[in-house]
Amino acid sequence: MRIPFNKPYLTGDEEKYMIDALKSGQVCGNHTYCKKNLALMKEKYGYDSAFLCPSGTAALEMGVVLADLKPGDEVILPSYTFSSTVNAVVLFGGVPIFCEVDPKTMNIDYTKIEALITPKTKMIIPIDYAGVPCDIDEIMEIALRHNLIVFQDCAQSYGSYYKGVPSGKKAHIAAFSFHESKNYSAGEGGLLLNNVPEWHLRATFLQEKGTDRSLVINGQKNKYSWVDKGSSYLLSDVLAAMLYAQLEHEEEIKAKRGKLTEAYQNLFAPYAEKGIIGVFQPKEYVQLNHHAYWAVFPTVEARATFMSRLKEKEIYVYIGYMPLHSSPYGLRLGYKPESLPLTEDLSNRIVRLPFYTSMADEGLDYTIENMKKVLIEMYGF
Ligand SMILES: Cc1ncc(COP(=O)(O)O)c(C=O)c1O
Repeated sequence: MRIPFNKPYLTGDEEKYMIDALKSGQVCGNHTYCKKNLALMKEKYGYDSAFLCPSGTAALEMGVVLADLKPGDEVILPSYTFSSTVNAVVLFGGVPIFCEVDPKTMNIDYTKIEALITPKTKMIIPIDYAGVPCDIDEIMEIALRHNLIVFQDCAQSYGSYYKGVPSGKKAHIAAFSFHESKNYSAGEGGLLLNNVPEWHLRATFLQEKGTDRSLVINGQKNKYSWVDKGSSYLLSDVLAAMLYAQLEHEEEIKAKRGKLTEAYQNLFAPYAEKGIIGVFQPKEYVQLNHHAYWAVFPTVEARATFMSRLKEKEIYVYIGYMPLHSSPYGLRLGYKPESLPLTEDLSNRIVRLPFYTSMADEGLDYTIENMKKVLIEMYGF
């Protein structure tokens, strides 16, 4: 049996809804299925000022413009993240300041943020790695003390909760991804959530190429005009229809994925207890969306052995992110691998395990059995 690292999941309703969207004659952004998604999110999560975007990447860019990032502004973010998080900063002239991670979650280590703040700091962009919410209360406290904006990269955490609050709601703004690798997918898609009421109207302008078209749609104006900077941050209604088919089945998808988390937790528990392998330890007040699972091996060689033995069995394990600070662009910015020694070390030893919704129905037992065999070979128990 071949176990890929990731596989998109279809609920069965995608085709029906997408054809329906096509037949409606209105397939651009902010039409029927966009509205249905936004209504569903509002009802379920209280996401009030939310904007469906073409990708998580686009949502990050729209958020940075909404936060009014200026050239030279410094932005604190983890080095252990996807390139889109930092691209949103550098594309608009911001200066990324990389922060170390907390090995219990691989999210930004909030205790190390304050030392990085300077008079030029404008914003903090924590991410929710593997769908585990970052320490948002502590981060918001720091931001409040220093008058900074917090933009949470929730690309992986749609459907997670922090102290009973849905992902992204405690930050000023948050970006989500609906890429095919995520729990809920439009193929490509994203969402910008804005929690600052005074920013809402401007966000509608930014999404519509810097025009006040939203006021025409509301009937407040007859003609729209160019009022701000902006871009096309809209998701086509055809893709929104696909997303709606997935969000309608959100709980069923989450439950299936929960079986994967549980199985991996049971598999790695004996090794984690003995301090051989590190696994994520979300705080007790976090509720997971079950996006992903990772494990940190004691050495680079142990990780390589684990991965190659599994590859022989056609089980594909992935190494996770390459840290940004020691990537070619990070080095050009003046960072060195040793600038963030913890991130560098952990990223050399971490693995992301196969994780996709349909694996709960087929492939999970095979994967766990074979991983157990490999771990017994490696550690004798
Ligand atoms: C942390 C993080 N930020 C941003 C993105 C970009 O999202 P998208 O692929 O939807 O552009 C991703 C993922 O793919 C991600 O994992």
